Amino acid sequence: MDSSQSQREHQDLARDHVRLQSQYAEIALLAGGLAHEIRNPLSTISLNLDLLREDLIAGESPRERRMLQKVTTLRKQCGHLERLLNDFLQFARVGSLEQQPTDLNALVSEFIDFYQPQAKEQGIEISPHLAANLPQVNIDCRLFLQVLTNLSRNAQQAMPRGGVLELQTYCRDGRVMLDIIDTGEGMTPETQTKMFDTFFSTKQDGSGLGLPTVRKIVEAHQGTILCDSEPERGTRFSISLPPATRT
Ligand SMILES: Nc1ncnc2c1ncn2[C@@H]1O[C@H](COP(=O)(O)OP(=O)(O)O)[C@@H](O)[C@H]1O
Ligand SMILES: [Mg+2]
Repeated sequence: MDSSQSQREHQDLARDHVRLQSQYAEIALLAGGLAHEIRNPLSTISLNLDLLREDLIAGESPRERRMLQKVTTLRKQCGHLERLLNDFLQFARVGSLEQQPTDLNALVSEFIDFYQPQAKEQGIEISPHLAANLPQVNIDCRLFLQVLTNLSRNAQQAMPRGGVLELQTYCRDGRVMLDIIDTGEGMTPETQTKMFDTFFSTKQDGSGLGLPTVRKIVEAHQGTILCDSEPERGTRFSISLPPATRT
């Protein structure tokens, strides 16, 4: 193959890439817009179902009891749709990053301050192990708080009778590491092969978008995420990030 031919192929590939990227952006925008449009009428429906429930709760006739049951089912389904839309919008919003050199330990501490009261209520002990002299990482803090929130929520849901949530930072092979470890119910090998698939969930009211969002955010930061889990013993997620390069 002569060099002008290979140059042409290279240009074609680059053009295809740009075209695909703009198509993806258009679809993401449409899907996000659609989710927004659905959210408003849905919250009106929820609100009115709440009002209906209030009216029916006082009723004593069998007819009113049956109506209350149906309205309660409808309200639950609305709640599920609302959570799904919120998780969907969160997933779709991971676009351009606002990265800045950040002390990961400070971010983890900030998250713990915010999450501690809720964890305590659920019988979950938070155990931080934050390494001294950790290099800074170049991250979008808002998105990384989302990562911590999603992983901790999963951990909490895997420990319905309480347990320990360990948050660890350390350095390994020149990478900055963040581990989130729980003592919960763990995952079967089958769940582990599917856990990052969009809409995969083993929960009755799960959206199946928590982990896909986490992975999308981590990979947008040139990071990787690995999982090690054993049924009945618990789960460890390990996130590896490149250290911020000093300029
Ligand atoms: N810490 C964990 N312990 C046990 N199972 C987990 C944990 N994190 C994730 N999973 C499994 O992975 C699935 C997908 O998680 P996720 O994408 O957050 O969706 P969702 O929480 O809505 O089900 C969960 O339904 C659950 O089966
Ligand atoms: Mg989740």
